[in-house]
Amino acid sequence: MGTKGHFIVFEGIDGSGKTTQIDLLKKHIEENGFICYKTKEPTDGPVGSLLRQCLAGSVQTDEMTLAALFAADRLDHILNNQNGLLKKLDEGISVISDRYILSTYAYQSVRVPLDWVMALNSMAAGKIHPDCHIFIDIDPGTAMKRIAKGRTGNELFENEKRLTETRNKYFDLFRQFKGTENIIIIDGTQNIQKVSDDIWQSVYKYFL
Ligand code: TYD
Repeated sequence: MGTKGHFIVFEGIDGSGKTTQIDLLKKHIEENGFICYKTKEPTDGPVGSLLRQCLAGSVQTDEMTLAALFAADRLDHILNNQNGLLKKLDEGISVISDRYILSTYAYQSVRVPLDWVMALNSMAAGKIHPDCHIFIDIDPGTAMKRIAKGRTGNELFENEKRLTETRNKYFDLFRQFKGTENIIIIDGTQNIQKVSDDIWQSVYKYFL
């Protein structure tokens, strides 16, 4: 078996600019001669599609059920034998995921006990350990302005109060996981190029 790919995860509240930065990082990685696969959670798989309907409001559910669905979607993301994370990484392909386990811990623990959310995700947590989590930090006020520009309707968690609570949860988690998870906090209020440069400075060592 050859060398495994690297696994880089992007985190942040809605509107933090992950999509733009993931595309820029993927380009950088490929320019350095590595194969890079871009993926996201919720996934495009069966559970992920249901989750997107819940987030858009076309399917109604409660927050506990949502937490369980996010955990199920993540397991499918990891284990799927067509394009799952384990398969890609084993093939030596580096993977960038738009959201992963810290999204669940931060977003769901606003309403559901963190212990239970962690228990639901314990199987996933034991399967793969990201090389790093890149958290693009912006304040919820700026996030809401950006969301309003790009959209007609807001998803379930896209309101300033929830995003503030979620951002606070992220920072609680960063304290909790200091020393066990490699978390890189990037100032997402800078211009696009500067954010991209800061991210590359943090990860280029994996792609030399
Ligand atoms: P987002 O990255 O904002 O997707 P898009 O840009 O396509 O709308 O993610 C969708 C939402 O799902 C976002 O509000 C965060 C939420 N989410 C959770 O609450 N828990 C999770 O585990 C994940 C992966 C996402």
